[in-house]
Amino acid sequence: MQLSLSTPFAFATLRYSQVAIVMVPVLFCCFSLLLLFLQWHHPKDKRLPPGSMGWPYIGETLKLYTEDPNSFFSDRQKRFGDIFKTHILGCPCVMISSPEAARIVLVTRAHLFKPTYPTSKEKMIGPEALFFHQGPYHSRLKKLVQASFLPSAIRGSVSKIEQIVLRLLPTWKSNTINTLQEMKKYAFDVAMISAFGAKQDLEMDGIKHLYRCLEKGYNSMPLDLPGTPFHKAMKARKLLNETLRKLIQKRRESGRREGGLLGVLLGAKDQEKLNQLSDSQIADNIIGVIFAAHDTTASVLTWILKYLHDNQDLLEAVTREQELIRSKIVEANRGLTWEDTRSMPLTSRVIQETLRTASILSFTFREAVQDVEFEGYFIPKGWKVLPLFRSIHHCADFFPQPEKFDPSRFEVPPRPNTYMPFGNGVHSCPGSELAKLEMLILLHHLTTTYRWQTVGGEDGIQYGPFPVPKLGLPIRVNRRNKAAIS
Ligand code: HEM
Repeated sequence: MQLSLSTPFAFATLRYSQVAIVMVPVLFCCFSLLLLFLQWHHPKDKRLPPGSMGWPYIGETLKLYTEDPNSFFSDRQKRFGDIFKTHILGCPCVMISSPEAARIVLVTRAHLFKPTYPTSKEKMIGPEALFFHQGPYHSRLKKLVQASFLPSAIRGSVSKIEQIVLRLLPTWKSNTINTLQEMKKYAFDVAMISAFGAKQDLEMDGIKHLYRCLEKGYNSMPLDLPGTPFHKAMKARKLLNETLRKLIQKRRESGRREGGLLGVLLGAKDQEKLNQLSDSQIADNIIGVIFAAHDTTASVLTWILKYLHDNQDLLEAVTREQELIRSKIVEANRGLTWEDTRSMPLTSRVIQETLRTASILSFTFREAVQDVEFEGYFIPKGWKVLPLFRSIHHCADFFPQPEKFDPSRFEVPPRPNTYMPFGNGVHSCPGSELAKLEMLILLHHLTTTYRWQTVGGEDGIQYGPFPVPKLGLPIRVNRRNKAAIS
């Protein structure tokens, strides 16, 4: 050590390292001050919303991820009001928990707030999927997707969805199952027939397999290096694209137009230019809709089983409602129909209350496309704006005793703009009717035939990425003892 210090090079190194020891923190402080200045500086006459931006770079990200997200939002709401600023995941944000302000962002001035997603998610789903767009391209796609999932379009799917349920439920009997994983299988199969139609093409198994690979990397670190889950997912995405393009080509050549969303997208012509959608536009939107359709629905179904399990009287009341329908079906020797699903008021309220209580999409992201004057505050261009669905759904002013699971609260409609499990405005969910339909069909057969007990007794929530009961709610399913019901 001594020796090396005596060489000119070592001396120089020593001097440089001494300088570095002094300079690095100085530079760091200057850079941080500059960042703070840029973060907080704004024209004098314009007032940013109240709130804390936390530390330079990290903002309040650590707090959001280490605290319970509910208390993160509610603490700040109590301190700063319904509109407050913060800084998470490297972005300055404005969080919004008043129904009126959320409506402005999502509906009345939606053109000023564009949807925003991390680039990695955009790459995985496909940049031409409707989620990422605004304006004419978005509204063209939205009309097509909506048309595929209107009640008139999905009413014919009841028996196909029922067949999926009737194949799945017997595999649960006398077994311990992971509710979330089983619900994912179910919602995925429903999403596949909604996307491609009930007639199975040869490519289906390959598509399913690639989709699973893609999904595994979806919530991983976006590190595109060989061996990482993200890299594997991107490879699967490429192959999925190739397979879908072959299928699209095959359907174009055969002129086969029937068959779910794909049929609708293949038949789409731009009204003025008679333009077909390109293969990549079709592929990205099919992949996107399957993504949007299955994890969401599966998470909500998992919560429903948890709430019904914890509220046995409610479970028996739902069963009585379903048994009435069952006896008519058995008498007429037929399957479940769309009309049957329209006469399940209590079961529907259980679904509504689950969507409120669980609020699996706690918030959504938008970005200000220009400087915006908003409710007396100034939101600079580029800032993220997050309407907090969960905070609104859990506000005692709109939903008294918000932590109580009480489907009867939906006997009267909620106050306008206070209930948004499927979002609001131009980007609201086109699949809400399908999601509710598949939940009703599964609950009909489950409640009339089976009973379930939770295994492991672990209460709590995990995020994967939506909030779901701990460990995906392991349960043991048995055939129901009908004599026990009055
Ligand atoms: C219970 C299940 C579901 C929930 C809670 C849910 C919730 C939502 C919410 C809150 C949004 C709006 C996001 C935003 O404004 O940023 C949305 C958008 C969307 N959902 Fe759903 N969804 C569900 C099921 C489905 C299903 C079954 C489909 C497919 C048929 C679907 C397809 C979509 C699509 C394509 C969008 C994007 C719409 C656009 O950007 O214009 N969702 N969903």
